[in-house]
Amino acid sequence: MEPIGIGLAGFGTVGAGVYKNLATNGDLISQRMGARFEVRKVAVRDLSKPRSVEAPEALFTTNLDELLSDPSIRIVVELMGGIEIPLEFVRKAIRAGKIVVTGNKALLAEHGQEIFHLAREHRVPVFYEAAVAGGIPIIKVVRESYVGNRFLSIHGILNGTSNYILTRMTDTGMDFAPALEEAKQLGYAEADPTLDINGWDAAHKALILASLAYGFWLDPDQIFVSGIDQVTAADIRFADELGYRLKLLATIQAGPENAIEVRVCPTLIPKSHVLASVNGVFNAVAVKGDIAGDSLFYGRGAGQDPTSSSVISDLAEAAAAIESPRFCYGFTSHDLYGKCQPVDE
Ligand code: NDP
Ligand code: HSE
Repeated sequence: MEPIGIGLAGFGTVGAGVYKNLATNGDLISQRMGARFEVRKVAVRDLSKPRSVEAPEALFTTNLDELLSDPSIRIVVELMGGIEIPLEFVRKAIRAGKIVVTGNKALLAEHGQEIFHLAREHRVPVFYEAAVAGGIPIIKVVRESYVGNRFLSIHGILNGTSNYILTRMTDTGMDFAPALEEAKQLGYAEADPTLDINGWDAAHKALILASLAYGFWLDPDQIFVSGIDQVTAADIRFADELGYRLKLLATIQAGPENAIEVRVCPTLIPKSHVLASVNGVFNAVAVKGDIAGDSLFYGRGAGQDPTSSSVISDLAEAAAAIESPRFCYGFTSHDLYGKCQPVDE
């Protein structure tokens, strides 16, 4: 079996996790998939940085173009974070005919329309299971498992860092700043955690889910977003006394006349509600379809191993797409209906 060549752009928390877990579970994956993956190049910013996961020095480069010009690389995995450089990299990758796997929700929420348009034009699939809810396979659920449903609503706790901070503040009375520091140390927070705490990381994920559920891309400027940056220990105490837990909740729901509502804000959830028990780095997504009714998906929303598990599931899909491109979901997941309108605020 000829291995499928991979170029890893990024060897931080997630990129290093993908490398490590492909090595650990490579045999298992190849038995199940009939495909073997081989990382042929790894792009990083700083070659001298110590790495927590060992990989041969010869793989490393600071030149992203080397991943694109190497004909033995079929799949590029974008795990750098940020927007401008990944956008240019993904554009070039698609034009070069490389299959793209990314965990970059900011990139997709802001530029998904362009990326998927380009991908369709070049008939190159783009996979992004890791972009929403870490290790929970929610993209596949919304895109595939619920394909026969109209989506009535999706509610989610979609940011592991915020949920970790709120949980620590609730359980221990800890202040915001040290709880955020812990989330950074554990690899949950973004390199710049601003988007985690101002609600926009969860909003980007909600925008991706909304685009899948309703078939068109919403303008990020048209949704309401408020994060946990203003939440105090007193808010959490008062919520507790009144019988609630404070959670950063994303709501996506269909309104009347093809309107779609997307919002993210700290929300009081009764302690008896199942989402009130989603704590720490865990995420949960409650999906309501017109046929399936209610389902709840729960799991680790951030961190090295759960996120790399989702990236690896995309690699498996990419391998299937190489084998049989006609049946690849990655081509057709968005812009299915195109007629809905965002809610007019
Ligand atoms: P890190 O900051 O830990 O790692 C980023 C990696 O990208 C580093 O290896 C860095 O190199 C490399 N990099 C950054 N810029 C460039 C560049 N211009 N050229 C080459 N390499 C570059 O990020 P994470 O691993 O945490 O996150 C990666 C992506 O995955 C992000 O989009 C994030 O939103 C997403 N994600 C993260 C999750 C998590 O739990 N951490 C969960 C789900 C998604 P160097 O090491 O030299 O600095
Ligand atoms: N920073 C993100 C979070 C990583 O805390 O949820 C997972 O997308």
